Amino acid sequence: MAVSNTSLLHGWRLFVAIAAVLIAFALAAFALQPDLAEGSRAAIRVTARTSFLLFLAAFTASSFATLLPGPTTRFLMRERRIIGLSFAFSHLLHAFAITAFGILNPAFWPARSALANLPGTMGYVAILALAITSHRSIARRMGPTAWRRLHVTGMWVIAAVFTYSYFKRVPTNFWYAVPSALLFTAFVVRWIAKRAQSLRRSTHARPSLPAA
Ligand code: HEM
Repeated sequence: MAVSNTSLLHGWRLFVAIAAVLIAFALAAFALQPDLAEGSRAAIRVTARTSFLLFLAAFTASSFATLLPGPTTRFLMRERRIIGLSFAFSHLLHAFAITAFGILNPAFWPARSALANLPGTMGYVAILALAITSHRSIARRMGPTAWRRLHVTGMWVIAAVFTYSYFKRVPTNFWYAVPSALLFTAFVVRWIAKRAQSLRRSTHARPSLPAA
């Protein structure tokens, strides 16, 4: 599907549209369960899945723009900041659903160890750091090198939390192999794009042979 430059859905308008869809999905997941606690659990799962799709789009945007240049990948690149902020919003809904589940099921938090909460907490710290530093004036103050270093590290921390969250569920439900495979594919796509970029750079840097 070609996405034109003049698309109505861009910038904050795109963010509001995605946020409305995310809220609708979370509320539908909640309402479709007969029990309130089960409803909030379903909302936890749905918000984790919407977050995952948005994360994959932001994580692979520049790689796809390198490997498959075209209007769709250009759109993804241009809106990468908004997609990242939508991912953060989806994870805010994940936090709301977890809070609701903790209130409706008082045995939830006491049954979880600090170690069990560690990956998720690290994930939230990374999401918060990326969301705050996506503000243009903060990014400018940080400088491009520090900003890039933080964003690459943060994205990999979040990727690690998703890998752990999905991979550990594969033994109980084999369908979790699907998101695990998508993550692996995303890692390979990023690696291929990085190789392609460095090959392109070394080709351009090589001095051309003098004419015989
Ligand atoms: C301390 C913070 C967090 C807590 C307490 C937490 C809690 C939970 C719980 C209880 C579930 C299971 C719902 C169920 O199946 O009944 C869940 C699912 C999940 N969470 Fe979180 N979470 C946290 C942070 C995160 C973060 C930061 C990420 C990703 C970056 C994440 C990704 C996931 C994924 C992928 C699932 C599986 C959803 C599915 O079944 O498809 N969580 N979380």
